[in-house]
Amino acid sequence: MPACRDCPFFDSEMVICRSVGRAGKRTGSRPWHTWTQKESHDHLRSCTNAIISLWASRASGSVLEVGCGVARVFRRVLNRNRAVREWYAIDPRWPTTPARHFVHGTVGAIPFPDNRFDLVGSWETIEHWAEYGDTIEGGLQEIYRVLRPGGVCALAMPMYVHGGEDFFFGRDAAVKARIAAAAPWATVRFNDWRRDYDPLPRIENWRHGSYTVPGTGRRRLVRLRKIEGAVLERLFAEAYQKDGIPSCWQIEAVLTKGG
Ligand SMILES: C[S@@+](CC[C@H](N)C(=O)[O-])C[C@H]1O[C@@H](n2cnc3c(N)ncnc32)[C@H](O)[C@@H]1O
Repeated sequence: MPACRDCPFFDSEMVICRSVGRAGKRTGSRPWHTWTQKESHDHLRSCTNAIISLWASRASGSVLEVGCGVARVFRRVLNRNRAVREWYAIDPRWPTTPARHFVHGTVGAIPFPDNRFDLVGSWETIEHWAEYGDTIEGGLQEIYRVLRPGGVCALAMPMYVHGGEDFFFGRDAAVKARIAAAAPWATVRFNDWRRDYDPLPRIENWRHGSYTVPGTGRRRLVRLRKIEGAVLERLFAEAYQKDGIPSCWQIEAVLTKGG
């Protein structure tokens, strides 16, 4: 799926992704991605920000973000979207005293009633759910429960160098199969973002749990899960030396609950 070429941030004339750098052409009103540029650390984050911005700009009704962190990008765009009636965000790192939009909770026990939300978004978290004892299946069943009939679940997740083992090693077919089978979704769609962006930069200088961010020369640390860290590090270094590893790309999953 040539998601980059379908993406409004991809400039096919200049063959660049405008979400990544500041070189993009400015057109008419201020583009969504310029709101998120402060958060742009590298290609991966910029790509994620593009996906989040698009979902937030298209959302309507009642919205929940799962694993929000501080929800910078989603919150900034959602707050400008008049079609959004209300939004909440949950994360295990939020205090147990609820703030206005932010609620303590994990995906394994979402603190909201059944059939509550039109859109549940979860960005760059599914690869971490196991760190709080939640499975892909259990988390998605909870998301399914809180979605209204006809509601949409949108996920974005990185492939390679991040999160649980399937994600770390880029086992995308396995990840997609688990997501599709987790709940009785009415429709399931996957978009591979940046996967076939040509040339996709490759991980350089994998060493001691860090790598060189493509195109920048900066080192970026990868937080490995404590128990598996050493094993993953060794396997990954071997895989890198043998075949080379492409830098992260994103899977966007769009799942709907039947009406
Ligand atoms: C890499 S951060 C992404 C934050 C935010 N979605 C963003 O795009 O900036 C991953 C987040 O997922 C949260 N998280 C990890 N495991 C979770 C779980 N089982 N349930 C809900 N959130 C979880 C973490 O606390 C963290 O805030």
